[in-house]
Amino acid sequence: MIKIEHLSKTYTSHKGNVVALEDISLEIAQGAIYGIIGLSGAGKSTLVRCLNRLEEPTGGQILIDGQDITKLSGKALRETRQTIGMIFQHFHLLQSRTVGENIAFPLEIAGYKKNKIKPRVEELLQLVGLADKADAYPSQLSGGQKQRVGIARALATRPKVLLCDEATSALDPQTTVSILNLLRDINQQFGLTIVIITHEMKVIKEICSDVAVIDASKIVENGPVEQVFIQPQSAIAKEFISSVFPNELPGDLLRELATHADSEIIRIHFLGSRASDPIIADLMKDCQVRANILYGSIDHLRSTLFGTLTLELQGSKEQLAKAHTYLDERGLKMEVIQNGI
Ligand SMILES: Nc1ncnc2c1ncn2[C@@H]1O[C@H](COP(=O)(O)OP(=O)(O)OP(=O)(O)O)[C@@H](O)[C@H]1O
Ligand SMILES: [Mg+2]
Repeated sequence: MIKIEHLSKTYTSHKGNVVALEDISLEIAQGAIYGIIGLSGAGKSTLVRCLNRLEEPTGGQILIDGQDITKLSGKALRETRQTIGMIFQHFHLLQSRTVGENIAFPLEIAGYKKNKIKPRVEELLQLVGLADKADAYPSQLSGGQKQRVGIARALATRPKVLLCDEATSALDPQTTVSILNLLRDINQQFGLTIVIITHEMKVIKEICSDVAVIDASKIVENGPVEQVFIQPQSAIAKEFISSVFPNELPGDLLRELATHADSEIIRIHFLGSRASDPIIADLMKDCQVRANILYGSIDHLRSTLFGTLTLELQGSKEQLAKAHTYLDERGLKMEVIQNGI
């Protein structure tokens, strides 16, 4: 488990100080795929680079399985680094080495014997689906293939944690999905903890179990992905979510609906099997309200169905109150977007 406590980082230079991280506290469970999302300059790379001490924190602690890595130096730090793999947006492969030699590199540094390196490299090439590319050079590979080499290299010394800094940002949407699927497989196969830094909510939606939102050097909210998607607290989280689940109604429609008497607009969120329940039919029958469907969407959040439905409900105050109770009793999250007159 990774426990980050009151972590701070200020860059100092002759031009002045830049506060990149302020009082960051997070817990990342063993085996989680933990996403950290934020806008450019929010402090994401600084945070992830502090986790393997590529960047020196200014204050706070980072406990990995109980050991405070901010206190390590020399041999102990080098050994700990071998338990934390990292992949990058621009892959950072050695251009003069073949794919096989790139993957062998961390093993050589860790002092593996030659006869142990070859079978390990072959195993890793198989794992990332590049068994036929051992002798190719990075310049002969596509972006997705380069990132596969990056992943194989990062996993070579069997780390406990894999850090990914915008690992799919340079890839097209289809290749992004194939790399995310590979990361998910590795997570499930080896129980490896994965920390993913991204500015794309799509990445979080596809594979993350938990998410933290970082804005202007601070964590503004965090929690299990389902919780944050259903009930985002911060304006920035809402904005990120609307990039993958757009659900804003046009302003002129809202204004027109506002003139309807005895009506309100509600948004219901569904998760899992709830998404297939006949909610509207039951709502109309049991509460005698009339429901007008304004917007609906259904998609996946990891492998769970996640849907939203925006409705105009028409009925007396009592009928609308009954509808709220009805939804509440069924454990459906609902928000009233607009009340009629
Ligand atoms: N080596 C450095 N020296 C001084 N300031 C830095 C340094 N690295 C980053 N910063 C500053 O720290 C802040 C956070 O930068 P960081 O790279 O962590 O952001 P980010 O969220 O990763 O952004 P992006 O999405 O653009 O990669 C920014 O204001 C940046 O300018
Ligand atoms: Mg960055």
